[in-house]
Amino acid sequence: MRVLMVCLGNICRSPMAEGVLRHIAEKRGLLLVVDSAGTADYHVGESPDQRAVRCLKHKGIDITGLRGRQFEQQDFDRFDLIFVMDRSNQRNVLKLAATDEHTSKVRLWLHHATEHPLDEVLDPYYGELDGFDRVYEMIVAASEGFLDSIEASSR
Ligand code: 4NP
Repeated sequence: MRVLMVCLGNICRSPMAEGVLRHIAEKRGLLLVVDSAGTADYHVGESPDQRAVRCLKHKGIDITGLRGRQFEQQDFDRFDLIFVMDRSNQRNVLKLAATDEHTSKVRLWLHHATEHPLDEVLDPYYGELDGFDRVYEMIVAASEGFLDSIEASSR
């Protein structure tokens, strides 16, 4: 399965989601191709935000090698599922959908964090440093929920 994580800038939430999901999938021995992209082109070619890098380094996850890229229409055909961090990302991605199949691949990432009260991973870019820890907790919950659902459906 191939999954794409999408946020606005592709330097905070979606590279964190990419790193965390890949890490947890590897620990579970699941084969999963994971990538990430931003709906905007502000940070194309850039490394992840230092606050995101530092947050994940404490958890043993290295995302320093990732580089920002912009979501493009071909991503609908490259990936089985496209997980958006918030509804603004969802609207921007859906604007590029050309078919019902494209539309059907787009999901809110926190849909999989079933015990979490929020359904959007809100943008930590302009907030406090602890915003990144909250993003991390939400992303872990969604990653565990998503991988549980894959494992359940393959049984
Ligand atoms: P992200 O955070 O969407 O989680 O990568 C942001 C990064 C940069 C900007 C906005 C959000 N920006 O406006 O530059």
